[in-house]
Amino acid sequence: MIGRLITLEGLEGVGKSTNMDFIQRKLQDAGIDVDVTREPGGTPLAEKIRDLVLDTADEPLPDLCELLLIFAARSAHLENRIRPALDHGRWVLCDRFTDATYAYQGGGRGLPLEIIASLEDLIQSGLRPDLTILLDTPVEIGLQRIRERGGTDRFESQRLEFFQRAREVYLSRAQQEPERYVVVDASRPLAQVQDDLAKVIELYLSNF
Ligand code: TMP
Repeated sequence: MIGRLITLEGLEGVGKSTNMDFIQRKLQDAGIDVDVTREPGGTPLAEKIRDLVLDTADEPLPDLCELLLIFAARSAHLENRIRPALDHGRWVLCDRFTDATYAYQGGGRGLPLEIIASLEDLIQSGLRPDLTILLDTPVEIGLQRIRERGGTDRFESQRLEFFQRAREVYLSRAQQEPERYVVVDASRPLAQVQDDLAKVIELYLSNF
């Protein structure tokens, strides 16, 4: 039994939480033992690091410090939760993973993508997601949803251009790795988005 790592990606306000639940149900309905988790976070230590990264503090968080904290959280999450689960043949469904680092710290913050790639190699060795689903909407739509629900963490308060750059990185990565990535247009009504997600999961499972 080999476990699989499935990740769900997208900017703020694309409906990730609702669709995480939907994907989890689809996998469970197919009889798959799935561990549902998130990044940054997923273990007690990594959740503490998440708080450091998301909380607005008095002291500025330099971009490189943010990047290292995110990979520090990822290292704990990988070694203490994800790898053990995969080794036991469990599937892991993760709300965001390293593609978010390329998008937010690379695209949004403007850190060199090569630095991110080196840290990815160092921390993950060869581990990469088996399937990544990107929920994509024009940035304005997601930001409008965030404003309506009053988001104020360190990322939710970023400007439009930050998210535009992050979206470009997501889309270009999806284009570069079509065998791993599926892009779903999340600007449509939820029922249509979930029809697509159901098809993506069915197709993925039919390959085993
Ligand atoms: P969430 O709101 O989807 O749980 O994600 C928390 C925030 O962390 C979100 O605004 C994106 C950000 N983030 C990064 O900047 N880099 C990363 O590598 C990850 C996983 C998340």
